[in-house]
Amino acid sequence: MFRKILYPTDFSDCSARALEYVKKLREAGTSEVVLVHVVDVREIEAVVTSAAWLGETAAEYEARFQNEIREDAKKRLDEVRHELEGAGLKVSVKLPEGVPFKKILKIAEDEDVSLIVIGSHGKSNVREMLLGSVSEKVIRGSKRPVLVVKRDDTGISW
Ligand SMILES: Nc1ncnc2c1ncn2[C@@H]1O[C@H](COP(=O)(O)OP(=O)(O)O)[C@@H](O)[C@H]1O
Ligand SMILES: [Mg+2]
Repeated sequence: MFRKILYPTDFSDCSARALEYVKKLREAGTSEVVLVHVVDVREIEAVVTSAAWLGETAAEYEARFQNEIREDAKKRLDEVRHELEGAGLKVSVKLPEGVPFKKILKIAEDEDVSLIVIGSHGKSNVREMLLGSVSEKVIRGSKRPVLVVKRDDTGISW
């Protein structure tokens, strides 16, 4: 039923929890995973704007910073890829740059996935928020089923 899964990750604890479900879904017939990390252009712009004091031109700094981010993300994606392959899944890796929710929704359509598996929260992990900024827009905008994997501490005692 969920043959091909889109798994977007920001390498946060909550997205690591989501990864465990992706691996488990192998038992339910999943064979292929599209693994995606979106380099957030707005984060890069914010850092570049605040880094004028470094003595580099904005363009130089941006190129260097962007390169570091991409190299780091590549390594992390490779680790996740190995983990998924170890669970018997076929994996394709994508590292686009843009606005995360837009890229995630576009890839879901282009790749014709049967399910998106996403963390409810990510790196920001604001306690009061029911959903993160990316997961909320992905859930709203997706035409496809979305499995939302919640964080460890729900913030509610019952
Ligand atoms: N840049 C990104 N690239 C790919 N997936 C992402 C990215 N940012 C967030 N996600 C996915 O969305 C989930 C929720 O993150 P997010 O909505 O950004 O929460 P928060 O607002 O707490 O950071 C993450 O667990 C991850 O699965
Ligand atoms: Mg986030």
